[in-house]
Amino acid sequence: MTTGNRLAGRVVLVYGGGRGIGRGCALAIGSEGATVVVGDLNAASATDVAGEIEARGGRALGLGCDVADLDTVTAVVSAGLAAGGRIDGVVNLAYAGTGRVVIEELGVEALRREFEVGVIGSFLTLRSALDELKKTKGSVVNFTSGSAIEGTPTLAAYAAAKAGIRTLSHVAANELGVYGIRVNTVCPLGLSPSVARYYQANPEAYEESAGRVPLRRYGDPEADIGPAVAFLLSDDARYVTGQTFMLDGGQTHL
Ligand SMILES: NC(=O)c1ccc[n+]([C@@H]2O[C@H](COP(=O)([O-])OP(=O)(O)OC[C@H]3O[C@@H](n4cnc5c(N)ncnc54)[C@H](O)[C@@H]3O)[C@@H](O)[C@H]2O)c1
Repeated sequence: MTTGNRLAGRVVLVYGGGRGIGRGCALAIGSEGATVVVGDLNAASATDVAGEIEARGGRALGLGCDVADLDTVTAVVSAGLAAGGRIDGVVNLAYAGTGRVVIEELGVEALRREFEVGVIGSFLTLRSALDELKKTKGSVVNFTSGSAIEGTPTLAAYAAAKAGIRTLSHVAANELGVYGIRVNTVCPLGLSPSVARYYQANPEAYEESAGRVPLRRYGDPEADIGPAVAFLLSDDARYVTGQTFMLDGGQTHL
């Protein structure tokens, strides 16, 4: 089921695309005609999402990958080249999810893992595709979090890594614009399965949390966030780089 052709003939790598917002992005990008390579720590979920795209008439493949590990990231790039002969887009949503803890109790290992997956992962996914992105004047989309802007208590490791991703993306946009490569950052609010499960068990908590969002709800990964990411990958966003897109129903202000 192709809903558009803004990405027809292109190859897009989606890291962390096996679940949640990443799955929503992969489906939306596939429905715009791109060949999607889904890379995820969970190889089975990556394959499942690729299967969903193909079941809708799109082209996709899924494989296991740790964005903090250069070899597996390079394998995703190679798979994209084998599938379509080019790389036009890189979307990285992977994050470590080390949980909530106050700084007084935060261990350095959690901080290290958030930075490895978040900052180093965003670096490796971009860097490993760079030569190919130069050829296609490609587009990169990384994911930050409102917690990095607000300094949310108990999320020091995650929020600091997310701030690092945003700054890395900003520097990359400034450096790589000369090649026609665009690099943007998305700050989402989405009902991913883990978030949805928590709120299904605690509906009052959802009402309270969603009530603080101007649009009064969490976003749907495929319908609310995926299409905006597809836009950033497309020629419709050809003059857009170095920006942070708040795809969060108005929850956080820059
Ligand atoms: N859900 C929200 O409301 C929200 C809010 C702010 C920011 N974000 C950001 O959006 C992105 C997606 O969030 P989500 O809620 O859909 O997450 P999620 O936990 O549902 O999905 C994350 C995916 O990344 C994969 N992953 C984890 N570590 C990986 C690694 N090292 N290499 C490759 N894949 C890995 C997981 O297996 C999973 O499939 C994340 O970057 C998150 O920080 C989400």
